[in-house]
Parts: sequence; C-alpha cells; structure tokens
Amino acid sequence: MIAFNTTTFESSAFYCPANRQVEDGYLQSVMAFTEAVEAKDPYTRGHCDRVAYYAEKVAREMGMPENRVKLLMLAGQLHDLGKIGVDDEVLCKAGRLTDEEFVHIARHPVIAWQILEPATFLAEVREIILAHHERFDGTGYPRGLSGDKLSVEARILAVADSYDAMTSNRPYRRHLREEHALSILREKKGRQFDPEIVDVFLAARKGFEGREELDERLQITSRGRVWVYDETQPPRDTAPCLAEVA
Ligand SMILES: [Fe+2]
Repeated sequence: MIAFNTTTFESSAFYCPANRQVEDGYLQSVMAFTEAVEAKDPYTRGHCDRVAYYAEKVAREMGMPENRVKLLMLAGQLHDLGKIGVDDEVLCKAGRLTDEEFVHIARHPVIAWQILEPATFLAEVREIILAHHERFDGTGYPRGLSGDKLSVEARILAVADSYDAMTSNRPYRRHLREEHALSILREKKGRQFDPEIVDVFLAARKGFEGREELDERLQITSRGRVWVYDETQPPRDTAPCLAEVA
C-alpha cells in the first residue's frame, strides 16, 4: 500500500498568496505554451487535459491528499510543455522516429524543467514533469530512476500519459481499443509501470467518463483548467487562483 507523506508539499511556496497575481499570470503563460504544442499537432489535442483527468481519478482512488491531487493535475496539464522546444517535423512525423529524432524528442521533460526553473512556486510540479517518462524498472529517461526513487505522482502520470497516448489516434497509427490498451498496461506492470498504480487505474477506470463525453466537456473550458474536474467548483473562465487551489 502506498503511503503518502502529507508534509511534502505543505511548505511549498504554492501556498503563499503574496505573489498570487504574478503566479497566476505566469501559469496562464505556460498553459498557453502547452496549448500551442497541442495546436501544432492536432492528434494531441486535449491530451494534457485527459491525462490530468485520469491522473486525478487514480490519485483520488488512492486517497491522495487534496493539495497533492491539485499539484498532480497541474503537472498533467503541463507535462508536455517541453515539446515547445521540439522541431515540428519530429513532433508531427507520420512515421517511426529515427534514433536521432527520438533523442531529440526525449529532451522534452528536461526542456520543461528548464522553462519552469524561474517558477519556484511550481518546484514540485516541475519535479513530477521531469520524471513523467521514467519507468518503474529504471529504463526510462532522463535520469533512469526506478521504484520508489520516483514520486508517486510521477508514477501515476506515467500510467495516465501512456493510456491516453495509446487510446488516441497518432499520425502513424489509429488509436488502440480500450481493452487492448488496458492489456498493455497489465503486461507492463512491474517493468514500465508501478504494478500497484496499474491496479488502481484498472479499478478507477470503471468511473471514467466516455472519451467522447470527456472531450466534449473539456472543450467547454480552456482557461482555469485545473478547476474543470473539481466537482465542488463550477467551471471558470478566469485564471486559476493558486491560493484557492491550495
Ligand atoms: Fe511526454
């Protein structure tokens, strides 16, 4: 059973309202970057929102504290930010990537890390994003971390990201059927993915909205997206307020 250290994020600058407007403005800017990435590649439209949605469902199923759920959702929404630094022809390539192209695109977690460096209030989010392509067995990138060297949030994000990638159309293949994608998650338990998190994902997916309904709902709100999934909050069309997120 995964235990949560609830103190991890409580000392975070995320909770300091002093620079709230500046932080909100910064967050809107980086979210605009992720939207720009999705606009460059129509196949990835809505990907970051769906990843945040799936990650939230898993985190809640696991009983993760609310402040950490919010940080994880934010990481989901920003996780592909670094693709802004990837060449368009590689990002949108319709065929298999060459080794060189893979090395190029694999830099995107580090690029996001660099872009977010000045935003001390996003320090924890930045850590999660840096690790979203790590693998449970240590064969991922960029640092080759394994097991509990990876945060729970990074391990959840890896499962949510892969599931959405598999169930979405790509320039080089049609989407996999849900059952096929789930069988791949099961098959890669203990290697690519944390087995416990895959089990939670499989249990939580029964409560997922259907893909069409989800996409339709997510299109309604394009700002303040971190709020979209919070059933206690109405959809907003204004900037997310970090103090409220806390
Ligand atoms: Fe990624």
